[in-house]
Amino acid sequence: MQRKTGEKIPRLSRRLLCAASLVRRGARAADVGCDHGKLAAWLICSGQASSVVATDINPLPLQKAQELFRGLGIEDRTRTVLCAGLDGVLPNEAQDIVIAGIGSEVTTGIIQNASWLKEEDRRLILVPASHHERVRAFLYRQGYELLSEQAVFEAGHCYSVMHARFCGCTREIFPAFAALGLIRPQQGADAAAYCARELEKARRVRQNTNDPQKAFRAQQVENFILAELGQSTDGL
Ligand SMILES: C[S@@+](CC[C@H](N)C(=O)[O-])C[C@H]1O[C@@H](n2cnc3c(N)ncnc32)[C@H](O)[C@@H]1O
Repeated sequence: MQRKTGEKIPRLSRRLLCAASLVRRGARAADVGCDHGKLAAWLICSGQASSVVATDINPLPLQKAQELFRGLGIEDRTRTVLCAGLDGVLPNEAQDIVIAGIGSEVTTGIIQNASWLKEEDRRLILVPASHHERVRAFLYRQGYELLSEQAVFEAGHCYSVMHARFCGCTREIFPAFAALGLIRPQQGADAAAYCARELEKARRVRQNTNDPQKAFRAQQVENFILAELGQSTDGL
């Protein structure tokens, strides 16, 4: 896609840049919960996406996104929709769908409400704001699979940028996989920080729960992470 003169590529945080880079070149994309609209604008101005439908449930953020698109002269390749999730999006205008900065429950609800996402050629790019383990468990239970995950440490938070697609195979996943997904400590500093946090969380759960099943699951997560770190579980 040729950039028009005057289009400036907006700067994205590392988290959003990582998510935006996963959109396939030339794809029709959706940015759900677009807020400021910077990710959608980046996708167009960089030539990564051919069009973007940007949705938000609140009018004020959507207005900000509209102003940004107007200022950049990219209204012809963007559409803004005031709606919950993907409710106002047509299946043929969104091959690659980004849902970033939204909590796990809302994120999974948005996916659940759009049954047309269950096609192998579509891609989900998810950066949940909370409970990553619930998103992973939901994806596999619904027949999606993770293609990649990247940990991004930003503003004191550990995020996972998840890249997923529908494969039709529904599965229950183990607690350790729910906790880490495809992230491993050897993948770099952000991934190591992510694993360290999950280890700490599992330890806290195991030490503070009276539920033996919960303690057992937490212990499994701990053992898995320690094994990945190459540390012994002796003496725990
Ligand atoms: C924290 S901001 C995240 C913005 C951007 N995606 C990011 O990751 O930086 C969350 C945005 O999602 C919008 N939002 C929350 N729930 C939504 C829903 N169910 N459907 C669409 N937008 C939603 C909010 O209005 C807000 O603008």
